[in-house]
Amino acid sequence: MQTVPQRKLTVVGAGYVGSTCAQLAAMKELAAEVVLIDVLEGRPQGIALDLCQSAAVEGFGARVVGTNDPADTAGSDVVIMTAGRPRKPGMSRSDLLEVNGAIVREVATYVRNLSPEAIVIVVTNPLDTMVSLMRHHTGFPARRVIGMAGVLDSSRFSWFIAEATGASVQDVDAMVMGAHGDSMVPLPQYCTVNGVRAGDLVGDDAMHAMADRTRKGGAEIVGLLKTGSAWYAPASSAVAMAASILNNQQRLLPCACLLNGQFGFEGLYMGVPAVLGENGVERIVEVPLSAEARAQMQQTAGAILNDLEALRDLDLM
Ligand code: LAC
Repeated sequence: MQTVPQRKLTVVGAGYVGSTCAQLAAMKELAAEVVLIDVLEGRPQGIALDLCQSAAVEGFGARVVGTNDPADTAGSDVVIMTAGRPRKPGMSRSDLLEVNGAIVREVATYVRNLSPEAIVIVVTNPLDTMVSLMRHHTGFPARRVIGMAGVLDSSRFSWFIAEATGASVQDVDAMVMGAHGDSMVPLPQYCTVNGVRAGDLVGDDAMHAMADRTRKGGAEIVGLLKTGSAWYAPASSAVAMAASILNNQQRLLPCACLLNGQFGFEGLYMGVPAVLGENGVERIVEVPLSAEARAQMQQTAGAILNDLEALRDLDLM
């Protein structure tokens, strides 16, 4: 029998994103113990039991534990933070600042006390500010607090390019930097289909149109669902980051990292290409940017600074 690594992965929030993260992590056997925690009584326990009852069919050896008690998360190697309200149609991610900020602060406190060595992946929106808040309240080194957004936004862009070119999505690479919001910075220059510039295949206008659809990619799904936001691609993206960390894969993935002079920004969390491994963010990779992309990075930084200011006004940071 194959052994599952003796590691512990906690998923905070048993909503759609959190429960899908738990399922993917269990099926990929990222950890022997996958803890799913939520404040709602019964929900994480029910989902965990259901997932465990899929193990015989799927053939995975990870155990999923559902709980309402933070004590059960103690000693986690990785924590994926998904708890918080999703958007409703017409809302921006920033509208969630106050309600989700309070939830992030509470979770940060128990993660700091119970899992002091954990690497935390934040998914809760508005992403760029919630990851800053998690770092602030855990006091963890920046390499151990990372935001999930670039993998998701790039994956959305990849899908649109695959559809437009008719190529297999497996051959498509796309790159999106900046904030996880309308000001995000899709980089058509770094989009390729098995090494061929995607712009050479479909033309620059089509690339710009797909970049724009990517910027609004989350809202498009909120508009269709009407009662919440996306969960499959967000969960896949967070679990890909967790896998790169837990399996020390050293993948180059765009994610929200604390910048220390890179791209000309200091002390600000923003989506950039980073190598993820057993230490969390192993390094940030400063790719060359066009003048247009640099201007967009300035704009996106402005949007994040506005949200951070609002967080301070709410006394959350
Ligand atoms: C989205 C949410 C999860 O982009 O931010 O779908």
